[in-house]
Amino acid sequence: MMQNKVKPNGTATLTIGGKTAQLPVFSGTHGPDVIDVATLYKQTGTFTLDPGFTSTASCESQITFIDGDAGILLHRGYPIEQLAEKSSFLEVCYLLLYGELPTEAQLSTFTHNITRHTMLHGQFDRFFEGYRRDAHPMAIMVGTVGALSAFYHDSLDINDPRQREISSHRLIAKMPTIAGRAFKYSVGQPFVTPRNEFDYATNFLRMCFAVPAEDYVTNPVLARAMDVFFMLHADHEQNASTSTVRLAGSSGANPFACIASGIACLWGPSHGGANEAALKMLQEIGTVDNIPDFVSRVKQKDSNVRLMGFGHRVYKNYDPRAKVMQKLCHQVLAEVGQTDDPMLKVAIELEKIALNDPYFVDRKLYPNVDFYSGITLRAMGFPTSMFTVLFALARTVGWIAQWEEMIEDPTQRIGRPRQIYTGAAQRDYVPMPARR
Ligand code: ACO
Repeated sequence: MMQNKVKPNGTATLTIGGKTAQLPVFSGTHGPDVIDVATLYKQTGTFTLDPGFTSTASCESQITFIDGDAGILLHRGYPIEQLAEKSSFLEVCYLLLYGELPTEAQLSTFTHNITRHTMLHGQFDRFFEGYRRDAHPMAIMVGTVGALSAFYHDSLDINDPRQREISSHRLIAKMPTIAGRAFKYSVGQPFVTPRNEFDYATNFLRMCFAVPAEDYVTNPVLARAMDVFFMLHADHEQNASTSTVRLAGSSGANPFACIASGIACLWGPSHGGANEAALKMLQEIGTVDNIPDFVSRVKQKDSNVRLMGFGHRVYKNYDPRAKVMQKLCHQVLAEVGQTDDPMLKVAIELEKIALNDPYFVDRKLYPNVDFYSGITLRAMGFPTSMFTVLFALARTVGWIAQWEEMIEDPTQRIGRPRQIYTGAAQRDYVPMPARR
């Protein structure tokens, strides 16, 4: 059971309409203090309003911390740069799920569990065939992941910790197989069965790029790049898709349905779809000579042109994941012999110009993880339609860890936001002949 760890740090007083509320203030390990407004309605009869949750903490969490001003991202206290350099995706999965880095024996058991659960039920493959030939792979992901609930009745009791753990392992293990099939289906190639002798990233690349007509050997540099990409996207505290998973889970919905809801939310261009938009932008700019014209259009008020892959709601500094992704991009392009890729040249020059231009400096707009990920994934052989699928695959562990934490939280209740109603005042039903 999760032990709540917030520490009392005084009281905030709020006076409204002649009523005064005493509201507890709490401190976490890092980050701003929070005012607990849970009793505000009881004390004053008023609600708080915060569209987009810019000032509202929705939960207590011990998994991930972001300091957006300093450009810091920690998983269970460990900086993302250290994990990306020294760890592996499955080790990070263990860390996110269980709170500590695994011992050798723990990692070996965990890896065995994940590796041995990658296969899908034989009947499951029929789902893919029901989709139109040109289905977007994310449409396939949303539907098929939810459908896992129909196959694993033995792990749907969310009140049983062991069943929850089995579901978590199944999701992490089967997501690459589903994503690989979504890809293969969209390009009209036969499905590739997972193989237990390969590591997580190697297996996934094989399921995407192997064909029956020839042997496939995974390039270890690309497999490591895939693994690092998964680590960089594994969790990001209470973002839109994670909050969606928590909200869906708060009603007691099963984990497969909850993760499907997270995938649906991630699909949007303001969230998981931004790397695709950044790549399209670089393609449209085309060559370095076109950058000044593009930048001046971005700076024009009302132009509605944004520098995609720049800026972030939380990071007002360099996104720490972007630095790792930039390095990874150079490594991958060197490995596949595309160092003279015109898009890379445009990206490097654009970044240089933007980081020195007062428009971007004053607004604290820095590259985010999406700025270089599109070029990297494209060089690895993925079409843009797969970019968000890869993000969903990697984020599944974060969603699951946050879902598990929510269920274990003794203060957990069904999520039910309030509203300020500004519609019609109460009125009587108007019979049809009397309507105008
Ligand atoms: N290019 C140009 N100007 C920008 C950009 C950008 N990418 N981002 C913000 N601005 C400007 C805005 O025009 C605004 O200027 P103003 O004060 O003169 O009106 C100011 O910076 C603040 O912008 P907001 O939209 O209020 O910032 P917000 O925090 O709401 O937006 C967001 C964050 C959505 C990420 C935004 O920076 C953006 O659209 N970026 C491009 C899309 C992108 O890369 N998204 C990926 C995010 S990372 C992820 O999801 C994994």
